[in-house]
Amino acid sequence: MTSSIGDMEPAEAESAYFNEYPPPKTLPNLEALARAFIERHVEANRRVVLVTSGGTTVPLEAQTVRFIDNFSAGTRGATSAEYFLEQGYAVIFLHRQYSLLPYSRHYSHSTNCFLDFMDEAPPTSESENPDHGRIVVRSEYQDEMRDVLRKYRYAKQNNLLLLLPFTTVSEYMFELRSLAKLMRPLGPNALFYLAAAVSDFFIPRHRMAEHKIQSSEIPANFSDESAVASDEAVASDDIYTGENEPEPPKSGKKLVVNLDPVPKFLHRLVDGWAPEGSMVVSFKLETDPSLLVYKAKTALQRYSHHLVIGNLLSTRKWEVVFITPDPPYERWIRVPKARRSKSISGVEDQVGLAEIKKGGSATSAEAE
Ligand code: PMT
Repeated sequence: MTSSIGDMEPAEAESAYFNEYPPPKTLPNLEALARAFIERHVEANRRVVLVTSGGTTVPLEAQTVRFIDNFSAGTRGATSAEYFLEQGYAVIFLHRQYSLLPYSRHYSHSTNCFLDFMDEAPPTSESENPDHGRIVVRSEYQDEMRDVLRKYRYAKQNNLLLLLPFTTVSEYMFELRSLAKLMRPLGPNALFYLAAAVSDFFIPRHRMAEHKIQSSEIPANFSDESAVASDEAVASDDIYTGENEPEPPKSGKKLVVNLDPVPKFLHRLVDGWAPEGSMVVSFKLETDPSLLVYKAKTALQRYSHHLVIGNLLSTRKWEVVFITPDPPYERWIRVPKARRSKSISGVEDQVGLAEIKKGGSATSAEAE
């Protein structure tokens, strides 16, 4: 790429970005799973939502040791997926590997270790060996866990939930594009709910270091023996990842990273990849309260989709703002103070989106 990808038209930026990276090796397998899942739900005339969740990474090296990460535990995506399932949707859950998942989120990353939910049951008869007692769920967690377990089993047994992982921003982009195109037969029964925290900057593959970036200079006459003999390699002033580019001024032992903007693929999703008549919901995360509504409204105007849900990092668990193209244009949804407690499993309640109606109007589980 010669000109910056950030200056290109959306379609040109798409081919420039996707030519930069080989598709993930797992893509054909993932596509096969998604195709079968979508076909099943097209036949059943069921609505299908693609929920994206968790943060993408930007590797600094091709053989990656270091990477830049994006904030997101996956709480919003995993929680919302459960609400969508309750509303009769089938859910494709495109998530950052090892981030929170629907249902298991109640126990996996909670303040308790999952073992704290268990106990050894007392022997039920004299003949039962107390040293080999059965493991049971502790009595105080029985009701909540039964409820979660039933919902999880229902989703699994009825093939209503497909879990697909990503790690890097390029994996996310390839997978999002493929899934959106595969969802075309769903038409207006498709919904996109983009809660993932997607990296805005990346290192193009042709500028990326192949191997681990060294923090000290490797001598020019390096050999295995000299490495053993010369433990004190000469420290470089600067380590620079932008190969084939003029080196920046040296200023001490710094890692200077030169990142390009990731094209905003929301444009392509709305105008090209997604099925005709489908609904697209995106999220906007800010830290400065004075910017949130402005940025969310700008995103809605720029991409002409149906709904932007804005949230602030510090209050995201309790309040969100819905920005819509039709009245009321701006609507705040808040979890009342009394409900901001932790549930028994230690997972905080958060704004749950019980229903998102077609046509851009939306309602939520809790409104003030
Ligand atoms: O998981 P939690 O810990 O519960 O946190 C949830 C959350 C705060 C991460 C979530 O609620 C949220 O706000 N997610 C979106 C954060 C974000 O990445 O915003 P953005 O301004 O970078 O992107 C806005 C939209 O554009 C997103 O829907 C994204 O899918 C899309 N995008 C982003 C970058 C890019 N290159 N192309 C895109 O299409």
